[in-house]
Amino acid sequence: MNIPIRPAHCLKGTLTVPGDKSLSHRALMFSALAQGNATVRGLGPGADVKSTAACLKALGVALEWNGTTCHIYGAGLHGLRVPTAPLDAGNSGTAMRLLLGILAGQSFDTTLMGDESLSRRPMGRVIQPLMQMGARIQAHEGTYAPLKIQGTALKGFSYEMLVASAQVQSALLLAGLYAQGPTTVIEPGPIRDHTERMLSYLGADVKREGPAVTVRPGNALKAKDVEVPGDPSSAAFWLGAAALVAGSTITVKNVCVNSTRTGFVDALQAMGADVRRENERMMCNEPHADLTVSASPLKAVEISGELIPRLIDELPLLAILATQARGTTTVRDAQELRVKETDRIQAVATNLRRMGARVEEREDGWIIPGPQVLQGATLDSFGDHRIAMAFSIAALVAQGATTIQGAQWADISYPGFFRELERLRA
Ligand code: S3P
Repeated sequence: MNIPIRPAHCLKGTLTVPGDKSLSHRALMFSALAQGNATVRGLGPGADVKSTAACLKALGVALEWNGTTCHIYGAGLHGLRVPTAPLDAGNSGTAMRLLLGILAGQSFDTTLMGDESLSRRPMGRVIQPLMQMGARIQAHEGTYAPLKIQGTALKGFSYEMLVASAQVQSALLLAGLYAQGPTTVIEPGPIRDHTERMLSYLGADVKREGPAVTVRPGNALKAKDVEVPGDPSSAAFWLGAAALVAGSTITVKNVCVNSTRTGFVDALQAMGADVRRENERMMCNEPHADLTVSASPLKAVEISGELIPRLIDELPLLAILATQARGTTTVRDAQELRVKETDRIQAVATNLRRMGARVEEREDGWIIPGPQVLQGATLDSFGDHRIAMAFSIAALVAQGATTIQGAQWADISYPGFFRELERLRA
């Protein structure tokens, strides 16, 4: 689907965004493994979360949906049933990697598959440590889906992660719930910590000591209702747009402001945007708040090191902001972007060049001088939701109209994104 986007004069409004994708996957999976029934409210409506729900249903978990609310009849840690067909994780890396951790220790065999993009993404980073726990997993070329999982007994271990990945850490902690003895996962740098927060909310024995998180098996998960806050990675598009388009002010209410996720907001502030945080409150072990951004002249920033995992999914958008900022923005240490839904380093450089911008592509990021004039152009989503949405924001400050090809990919995390964009035009 092609969507045309005109430049904007000014954006104004107050809105909520879909429920956080990372938390939605976890709320569904962990509630499915809990004892008792729970209601999860505010679930992300995107296709990725639906993929997790479909896999859980195929594993015998009863789910009742009403809009973005889901009532889950917990099966308990040992109550999943043998699926009759391969489980389809669709486009979702989080679904595939976390489910892999859960399925490795079951008493039955399963196959996990995904779409074309997911079948090109590396699973070896989860498979290898799981095999150290005793897991039996076969993958194409040792790393690609489809994944054949022979359920078996696992033993706990201590593992130093090679990449700063919350999906890898979460998969191992989940496998640890089924293992004999404790499992410790050591992070090379701070990563989103939703898994340990939600597991301990549900009564698991999880402890953090510095960069090490340890799960001890034995405690059952106890079903409890969950309220999912808005997704900071979806809110980022509107906050970024408000910072970019002169005269704009946008408030996004009820966003997850867990500090492992607020790197983009910090970067916006460092670039000179006017950012306000109000009504901060704790719910279900996660901080929620309302965020407001108003436009102001932006300056370049340097993004690298431990900040990267805190804004990894927002980096395509940050690259667009960089074209409008005074000075040269450098993004380093972000090589993980090459193995997301598409190679996001290349996708951003290609689309920015189509808009007439200068950008130097590096193996681990970009160097982007600014400010530069962006020309309206025909751009590709590269089958990636975040690329489709990030370049819709670029189109707002371009000269002339832009067309986003493959715009329907936005539905992976944000159905209704383009409708909201039109509504925010003052
Ligand atoms: C996620 C972790 C991150 C992030 C992804 C969601 C999660 O991926 O990019 O969108 O829910 O745990 P990695 O674990 O690969 O860094």
